[in-house]
Amino acid sequence: MGFDAETLSSATETLEAGALTSLVAATVAAPDDVITVRGLSKRYGAVEAVRGIDLDVHRGEIFGFLGPNGAGKSTTISVLCTLVGATGGSAVVGGYDVNSHPQQVRARIGLVFQEPSLDNQLTARENLYFHAMVYGVPRHERNRRIEAAFEMVELTDRADAQVITYSGGMKRRLEIARGVLHYPEVLFLDEPTIGLDPQTRAKVWEHLREVRQRTGTTIFMTTHYMEEAEWCDRIAIIDHGRIVSLGTPDQLKNQMGGDVVVVTTSDNARATRQIEEQFGVTALHDDGTLRIDVAAGAEFVPKLVKALDVEVRTVTVRRPSLDDVFLKLTGRAIRDDEVDQGAATRAMMARRWQGGRR
Ligand SMILES: Nc1ncnc2c1ncn2[C@@H]1O[C@H](COP(=O)(O)OP(=O)(O)OP(=O)(O)O)[C@@H](O)[C@H]1O
Ligand SMILES: [Mg+2]
Repeated sequence: MGFDAETLSSATETLEAGALTSLVAATVAAPDDVITVRGLSKRYGAVEAVRGIDLDVHRGEIFGFLGPNGAGKSTTISVLCTLVGATGGSAVVGGYDVNSHPQQVRARIGLVFQEPSLDNQLTARENLYFHAMVYGVPRHERNRRIEAAFEMVELTDRADAQVITYSGGMKRRLEIARGVLHYPEVLFLDEPTIGLDPQTRAKVWEHLREVRQRTGTTIFMTTHYMEEAEWCDRIAIIDHGRIVSLGTPDQLKNQMGGDVVVVTTSDNARATRQIEEQFGVTALHDDGTLRIDVAAGAEFVPKLVKALDVEVRTVTVRRPSLDDVFLKLTGRAIRDDEVDQGAATRAMMARRWQGGRR
């Protein structure tokens, strides 16, 4: 398969024309916010995937969108990237409304999808070159930027290999390199590390931080992984299409006010009643344990043990995690098994899809 030069050059012209028009289009967002979302909703038939969300993403930050399967993360990203239209509300990205100025938005963003979207039959370099042409990277700049991108994600020595010979982690890194080739204002990544082993995940993060540092690109990413959410500057927790909390990881954890005490007892139901009676707090049941939010864990534990007439088997005191925040706000945990099941299904679908195309 080769490039169709005519199609590419006309796509480039369209984008460049779009960029010119954009100079005269209205700028709506605040200068330090690169994304402004108000009352955004998206319905697919009877399914309300996104139910009126508000958020502002500051220029240059790594913003994480955290939520369980089906929460509305991909749908929100798709609307912000102009891939699907919203049912209600508004979104401004890079100064342009996604609804009225989709071309201008597209010229200013980079995208890494939930499913890999590289051409397996081409070499990595050809994939990047194709992208550089479509996005109107000036001809004299292309090779230099492509070299720099390969260097950044440490794929220089594999640049001329066919993508089909790449591992999953290498493909992700290549996708990130491609996503920033045209110096987007915002790089959107939908689950950039899903299904990757922890080591490769850490590597992808290293590259994302480097992208931000080198280019000042704002990064908007979705994730299921709590530990990744911890690495973001700010996060929004989304559940059933609604944002249930937004702030820095520390702000969210501080909202919990204090420590989390986790106990297991010989009779959790009885212990729950006694905790409620004695301390006026509700213990949350989670996987055979009781979680209690208290101001000062170390002081609470001796009082707790004294107050209960059931056998206390284990006690742990710790700082709240984002999982605790999620549990408190929604009454359930984001489960890793749920994550992995989703990842496995998607990986299988992606393989089938790619297999079918060959
Ligand atoms: N094209 C579509 N047609 C119909 N329903 C859809 C479509 N895309 C998403 N949905 C539904 O919208 C809801 C939100 O889906 P979305 O893909 O945004 O979730 P997500 O948070 O990205 O989940 P995951 O973590 O599994 O990727 C789900 O109930 C899903 O079934
Ligand atoms: Mg998704």
